[in-house]
Amino acid sequence: MKNLTRYNGWALITGASSGIGEAFARQIAAQGIDCILIALESDATKLEALAAELAAQHGIACLPLTQDLAAPDAVEKTLAAIGDRPVGLLINNAGFGVGGAFATRPPSKIEQLLHVHCRTPLLLTRALLPGMIARRAGAVVFVSSLIGATPTPFEATYSACKAFILNLGQALWGELRGSGVDVVTIYPGATRTRFFEVEGIGEKDRRRLLRLAASPDYVARLALRNLGRKPVVAPPQAWAGAMLARFVTRRFAIRMTQCLVRLLVHYR
Ligand SMILES: NC(=O)c1ccc[n+]([C@@H]2O[C@H](COP(=O)([O-])OP(=O)(O)OC[C@H]3O[C@@H](n4cnc5c(N)ncnc54)[C@H](OP(=O)(O)O)[C@@H]3O)[C@@H](O)[C@H]2O)c1
Repeated sequence: MKNLTRYNGWALITGASSGIGEAFARQIAAQGIDCILIALESDATKLEALAAELAAQHGIACLPLTQDLAAPDAVEKTLAAIGDRPVGLLINNAGFGVGGAFATRPPSKIEQLLHVHCRTPLLLTRALLPGMIARRAGAVVFVSSLIGATPTPFEATYSACKAFILNLGQALWGELRGSGVDVVTIYPGATRTRFFEVEGIGEKDRRRLLRLAASPDYVARLALRNLGRKPVVAPPQAWAGAMLARFVTRRFAIRMTQCLVRLLVHYR
């Protein structure tokens, strides 16, 4: 595993209470790095238990922060809670899905998704980057999705938001080269977390979707290993899917993803 201590300061991990975020938190904490863990208010107990476990296991300071990252003042509140702790490693990971026909999705849910996946990581990164640049040490990880690399009907908002993150991360990788700040964007395919359950996808569909899924541990390790090396990475099955979509017409790629979604998922 890459040595992450050279990024100095604290690690801030959003969506750290489960899945890929929890895997990031465990791997970063194992290197003796102090962590700030953020998740939604509903999981306060789980987040606190994880923070206490990591602090005891690795002798680090670990601050659990319950914060709704969809709230308009999420960034201000997060920055206030961080206080003067220098953040050297930012993991923009929190997220959820809102699959189904776009015209039937609740506008409030669409807005929350836009905030959690785009607005909050954009502004949080903007707020924390100057400190990293001044110290000439830092790293930012963006978690996109295969669905961001391939336009996906019935996942229109999620697909568009993840495409935003995919471009943002890669543009910043270029902009920050030579600054001492490493940026990597990962676009996982299906990953074994409770993501699809939270999205409201039934058990039978989930089992089908997760048949070839990667483990959250692998996804986090792949991203951390490639910090400072590649602008964008993906587990093999996601990479193959994105490559395949590149070599066919857009029309065909969209039809293909539409058929796959129809075949695999029955949205509630
Ligand atoms: N699983 C997949 O197949 C897959 C594939 C590609 C990309 N991704 C991306 O990977 C990232 C992590 O997802 P996951 O699969 O690990 O799902 P997960 O297990 O459901 O974890 C999602 C995390 O995000 C947090 N979160 C959600 N909404 C939030 C909000 N409004 N404010 C603060 N925290 C919030 C959750 O907090 P609570 O526990 O408090 O709700 C949880 O910690 C997401 O960005 C997702 O889009 C997942």
